[in-house]
Amino acid sequence: MIFIDACKGKKTPYTPIWMMRQAGRYLSEYMAVREQAGNFLNLCHNPQLAKEVTLQPIDILGVDAAILFSDILVVPNEMGMELEFIKGFGPKFPKPLETYEDLENLDMSASEKLTYVYETIKLVRSELAEDKALIGFTGSPWTLATYMIEGQGTKTYAKVKKLIYSNPDYMHKLLQKLTDVIKEYLVKQIEAGADAVQVFDSWASALERDTFFEFSWKYMVEIAEFIKEKYPETPVILFPKGVSGYLDGIYGNFDVFGVDWSTPIELAKEHLGEKYVLQGHLQPTRLYSKDAIDSGVDHILKTMKNERHIFNLGHGMLPDLDRNNAKYLVDKVHNDSSKF
Ligand code: CP3
Repeated sequence: MIFIDACKGKKTPYTPIWMMRQAGRYLSEYMAVREQAGNFLNLCHNPQLAKEVTLQPIDILGVDAAILFSDILVVPNEMGMELEFIKGFGPKFPKPLETYEDLENLDMSASEKLTYVYETIKLVRSELAEDKALIGFTGSPWTLATYMIEGQGTKTYAKVKKLIYSNPDYMHKLLQKLTDVIKEYLVKQIEAGADAVQVFDSWASALERDTFFEFSWKYMVEIAEFIKEKYPETPVILFPKGVSGYLDGIYGNFDVFGVDWSTPIELAKEHLGEKYVLQGHLQPTRLYSKDAIDSGVDHILKTMKNERHIFNLGHGMLPDLDRNNAKYLVDKVHNDSSKF
């Protein structure tokens, strides 16, 4: 698998590419399957349909890896928190965590209840071409904790940051619980057939430097080291979004560092390129224009030179993007990177 070879730093004939949120609303085929499922959460809970949408971008775009179709929020949901996805608003936990009792009530056997995820992985792996990788994933403890405390997406992170500074003990207890559940969750994804795993820390940028390392990165590294100990051959990808100022402090035993679009790729290469394979980082909105794709890809490929690099967007696909431009991007990366 070219994607797995690249994760391990091996020289590959071209730079493999996949896109965060490559399955989703910009594909009419996705909308049709979501409609069949009734709603987004039902789709996540239905392995047969989740398998279909996982495979769609492989067939349509020709990317080198599939990413499990699910959501990071199924974990707190199975820890006992009621979850809704509201049209035009996003995810919502109607009863966010408030008290120590709420913490005690979290179900630590959640990984055993996420059987629909493992079933989806098994189905995808049995139908996916042998040379394509399947990526499993989780949200980071910090990113999941923000939703569990705020109850929804937030611009200010006021409630969760108040806890960090006024009751760090509460935050660390919650983050440790999430870390323990996630370790088992990723192990079970690997045992079901995931070829690599990625941890999404989408809200890393909400934290100051020291706070980021104490409340987020430390737990991500604990998860990565647990996986590397148990399954040394399975690549672990960590993606903390928006931490370009903290790259000199990044440490830990993992394979691939996800570079978001706001971090200059040269800077990531300088600080981390020798120790880790880099994944990223085209600004997603460049997909609105072929010229913008051309200049963005040229810059990234000239910097990385088809060495220790996996091509990706610097964050997720947007719902109104044109699939023809996405396909154009995949073909261009395959073609141009093979010349290095
Ligand atoms: O990348 C993929 O193709 C795999 C599937 C995937 C989804 N969510 C599907 C999804 C993955 C890896 C995620 C991760 C996820 N979910 C993250 C981390 C990555 C990131 O984007 O930073 C976060 C923060 C979430 C939480 C979440 N789920 C939000 C905030 C939303 C609503 C935002 C939106 O785009 O509407 C979701 C819903 C969601 N997750 C959709 C998809 C395809 C859209 C649901 C729909 O069909 O309406």
